[in-house]
Amino acid sequence: MTSIHPMWLTGDTPLRGRTLQVMGEHRLLDSVRADAAEHGLRHVDDDGADLVFVPAADAGRFAVADAHVDGLGPEGFAVARTDGRTVVAYGGAAGALYGWFQVLRDAAAHEDAPPVTRCEPERELRMLDHWDNVAVHPVMGQVERGYAGGSIFFDDGRVREDLTRVERYARLLAAIGINRVAINNVNVHAREARLLTDDLPAVARIAAALRPWGIRLHLSVSFASPMLLGGMPTADPLDAGVQQWWDAAVAHVYGAIPDFGGFVVKADSEGQPGPFAYGRDHADGANMLARALAPHGGLVHWRAFVYNHRQDWRDRKTDRARAAYDHFAPLDGRFDDNVLVQVKYGPLDFQTREPVSPVIPAMRDTRVTLELQVTQEYTGHQRHAVYLAPQWREILDFRPFGDDGPRLAEVARGGMAAVANVGDDAYWTGHPLAQANLYAYGRLAWDSTLDPAVILDEWIALTFGTDAAVRRGIHAVLDDSWLTYEAHTAPLGVCFMVNPHHHYGPSVDGYEYSPWGTYHFADRDGIGVDRTVATGTGFAGQYPEPWASTYESLDTVPDELLLFFHHVPYTHRLHSGRTVIQHIYDTHFEGVQRVEGVVAEWAALRGAVDDALHDRVSERMSEQLRSALEWRDQINTYFLRKSGIADERGREIY
Ligand code: GCU
Repeated sequence: MTSIHPMWLTGDTPLRGRTLQVMGEHRLLDSVRADAAEHGLRHVDDDGADLVFVPAADAGRFAVADAHVDGLGPEGFAVARTDGRTVVAYGGAAGALYGWFQVLRDAAAHEDAPPVTRCEPERELRMLDHWDNVAVHPVMGQVERGYAGGSIFFDDGRVREDLTRVERYARLLAAIGINRVAINNVNVHAREARLLTDDLPAVARIAAALRPWGIRLHLSVSFASPMLLGGMPTADPLDAGVQQWWDAAVAHVYGAIPDFGGFVVKADSEGQPGPFAYGRDHADGANMLARALAPHGGLVHWRAFVYNHRQDWRDRKTDRARAAYDHFAPLDGRFDDNVLVQVKYGPLDFQTREPVSPVIPAMRDTRVTLELQVTQEYTGHQRHAVYLAPQWREILDFRPFGDDGPRLAEVARGGMAAVANVGDDAYWTGHPLAQANLYAYGRLAWDSTLDPAVILDEWIALTFGTDAAVRRGIHAVLDDSWLTYEAHTAPLGVCFMVNPHHHYGPSVDGYEYSPWGTYHFADRDGIGVDRTVATGTGFAGQYPEPWASTYESLDTVPDELLLFFHHVPYTHRLHSGRTVIQHIYDTHFEGVQRVEGVVAEWAALRGAVDDALHDRVSERMSEQLRSALEWRDQINTYFLRKSGIADERGREIY
């Protein structure tokens, strides 16, 4: 195997040589013991250890106040520091595991931690979805939308024999609090469908590699499995034979994997089979699977990414942004308790800038899972350094019912899921700095109020140590990188403008006359999609107040979403005071300048980080700069030619 470069948890910590006592029996406590030994801690069997793990109920013995441990849940812990000793009181064994990683984080920071830290995850379900194929797909490859090499689970048609890397991965995920992993692509092709049946022994080996780190395995399944795998004439969810087929299949899975997590289902979406074929709706489909899983404690993550991908571009009334709400909002209240309706954060598709999906606030009687994308499909394919935590914080902080209402993080009470960005690349994520996104996703799924800059500090300390120049340099590269990416790509929330199929690099009209429903409608006079209720597709009306009115009106729509909601002339003046056309020119010139600054920041870190890693990032950065220039020049040129309006500052546009 080629050498694998570490992600986080690699630096030496001041814990080496300290003594440790872990009280209790559980396989997760064994993982804590083993990991602590790897970090150079020494086990002792008396109460005098430097670091003690104790069940919350016994914490009083170590002078931890009841108030700090009262009501700790199974994943919760409190770290108390007194007189040079650290006590981790845990609610359950998983809490001890997460407490151990908190201790490591604190140690890596080399700063004084507070006397007591009490931690509980904000949500129970913290999931990563791999879009890995078992067989190499002729178009999508081994990992769909993967930018980090092949799959760590599968290799050319089968589950890998050697799963050591999966074990290392599971540990890294435990360190950021992830507790569920779906191992295969939501597009379930014929080969992948068989994971559910023929491949169970091999899938069970993957589950065994994840289990020591508190992670439950999920599978993406084909809704047509009874036909594909069972030779049945139908997959109708109301057919008794179909239901029995699923009951038996699920019982079989639990025979092989007793802690199996459940299914992820993409149905009636982009060609995947689903209940519509039988005149049934998505609640019928999801509940049928949920009832097969319920006796075993399994879940169904049923995706709401349902829209017509064979739209006629001439038809201005059909609006892809509306589709998920139109399909799912009427079903609110009809889903079983173990169904999670999984909704992408925006109404379109993981764009750099979209409004938050109105489906999430619409389904108050449904457990909704928020879906994010760690893999950088639309944010530079892990060739561009783009730190996504600031975007995710904005999404999580959105208050769908206005200032007095809850944050989106609270409204989506079915947990969080995200498309993973890891592959068999030596740096795990292709671009070494893309590791920060995976790290940040886990931390935000645990606590959505964490500051992206603080999360980045944690990642830097755990990965590179505490060199102040490295810390400053990486912040300079990443802190504003999402906004920089937005600046030199599709303007003002208009979305896409990427090359069709692979979605990398600019192509302003790439999707304009396609069936995918992603248009910008630029002509010589103006640009944008009229999604108002008054004159457009009515999408703005899918929001609760105050947002429906805020988005409806040109007076109140935020600049960054203007073109998502309105079609305006190029001379329309933004709240910023600039015209739309001048905003386009300015941001594209500025965006490239910022990328140039970033390249210089990184160059200055030569010698301060590992040379090979420095080379890898530098190589990606030359591509980032080339690509940013390409974006700038194509976008600016396109709009100069369309509008005939010159740049006020007379800069070079081709
Ligand atoms: C995007 C992506 C597809 C993926 C789909 C999904 O459209 O390009 O590759 O299958 O999202 O989320 O299901």
